Amino acid sequence: MTLEALKPRVSHILNRTDHTTDQRLQSVCELLQTEIPYYDWVGFYFANHDSRTLHLGPYAGAPTDHTVIPFGKGICGQVAESNSNFVVPDVQAQDNYIACSINVKSEIVVPLFKNGKNIGQIDIDSNFPDPFGKQDETFLEWINENVAKLL
Ligand code: SME
Repeated sequence: MTLEALKPRVSHILNRTDHTTDQRLQSVCELLQTEIPYYDWVGFYFANHDSRTLHLGPYAGAPTDHTVIPFGKGICGQVAESNSNFVVPDVQAQDNYIACSINVKSEIVVPLFKNGKNIGQIDIDSNFPDPFGKQDETFLEWINENVAKLL
């Protein structure tokens, strides 16, 4: 299924007022991980600006030890500070990278803004090399804009 074709399904999930916000985010993670062949791990991290740490929220894929990530550490921690998308075609080429699984070859992290503040991010790991394009950035930005409306 194309990214564009998934948008109505994402909207449907996010509009489920009979589900909690966490349940809706969980369902979005599962949808993306199931339907997009190169999205092997999909999760949300949320920022605590006092402790300057990211905290794992809903996710789909293998459990990770990295449930708390300090700002500045790894791809996720760098995005907490840069406020910019980070596309990593080859994780092995990154010095400041936190490995979750030896199978992961690439990663994309897109910050989530609420009222202009970077409050978290969506993180995708892929077991394929260099699979992420501009269309993934745009799609994940769209998801985060819609998730922000629930927060
Ligand atoms: N690889 C990430 C850590 C989170 S896991 O991918 C789930 C990073 O370098 O920040």
